Amino acid sequence: DWSMAGYRDAKIADIRKQVGKGKVICGLSGGVDSAVAAVLIHEAIGDQLTCVFVDHGLMRSQEAEEVVSLFRGAYNIPLVHVDAEELFLSGLAGVSDPEAKRKFIGKTFIDVFEAEAKKIGGADFLAQGTLYPDVIESVSFTGGPSVTIKSHHNVGGLPERMNMQLVEPLRELFKDEVRALGRELGLPEAFVGRHPFPGPGLAIRIPGEVDKEKCDTLRKADRIYLEEIRKAGLYDAIWQAFAVLLPVRTVGVMGDGRTYDRVCALRAVTSVDGMTADVYPFDAAFLSAVATRIVNEVNGINRVVYDYTSKPPGTIEWE
Ligand code: XMP
Repeated sequence: DWSMAGYRDAKIADIRKQVGKGKVICGLSGGVDSAVAAVLIHEAIGDQLTCVFVDHGLMRSQEAEEVVSLFRGAYNIPLVHVDAEELFLSGLAGVSDPEAKRKFIGKTFIDVFEAEAKKIGGADFLAQGTLYPDVIESVSFTGGPSVTIKSHHNVGGLPERMNMQLVEPLRELFKDEVRALGRELGLPEAFVGRHPFPGPGLAIRIPGEVDKEKCDTLRKADRIYLEEIRKAGLYDAIWQAFAVLLPVRTVGVMGDGRTYDRVCALRAVTSVDGMTADVYPFDAAFLSAVATRIVNEVNGINRVVYDYTSKPPGTIEWE
């Protein structure tokens, strides 16, 4: 007779048994997984847990603020918020290869995280919101043995370096189960129902080189798109929806002038676990309305296209 409440209680007991009186440090990404892991661990061991939120400046509009206020305000969980935007953006300058971007972001994330962990006197355990699909997809792909499709962003390497053991209470769960567990733990519905967001953030939604201006432009377009999706009542029917800023300029007309600006691609998919995905079939009228708003309201974008590729053969993200 399986229930989420029973699962929660069993995991709390497991965490207490594993951790004892040890100190745990947890990296928050801004996403649902690390948040659920942190709240669960906090229920189990209280202030033996410290959370570290490395803010790489590659978040969506408002996202960093929401995480910080949720943790400090609603849960009173000790949280270190590190503003590392400059460090990440300066290191990303000149880097355009997708895997090189991921590797730089992953490595820098670990460096910053490690420095913060040392500042608070270290920890015995490192907590991560690793899910079952992460365990599978980052190890291999059915196309062949040990082919890494994309190096997923986690703090690999750090546990050994700092002599920490891993605490991964979500390792057996799929995304919908993590959301159910989050609800069981009392996390607000708006937070639990959030679309997944990748660790490398907007950097993998800006094909090619990333800079602050591109991030700001993308944040504006993405915000309009998500606003319209929420207004149309479609947010919960979609697994992930986001805008992508393409490194392509095209010609347009605005008033009596010619424009030569960037292209924004819109992506929306349905999925069960992110392993496969179908394109969300918006009405043409909905897409036109979004395209019109983006071109009118966002400086630097004069064309909007919709991505009609399922996974496979496409991936959900563009990099
Ligand atoms: P793809 O693009 O591989 O995405 O079809 C599948 C799911 O994984 C997310 N994703 C990532 N998450 N680090 C992450 O933490 C990454 O490097 C990464 N790449 C993709 C993606 O948003 C989708 O939910």
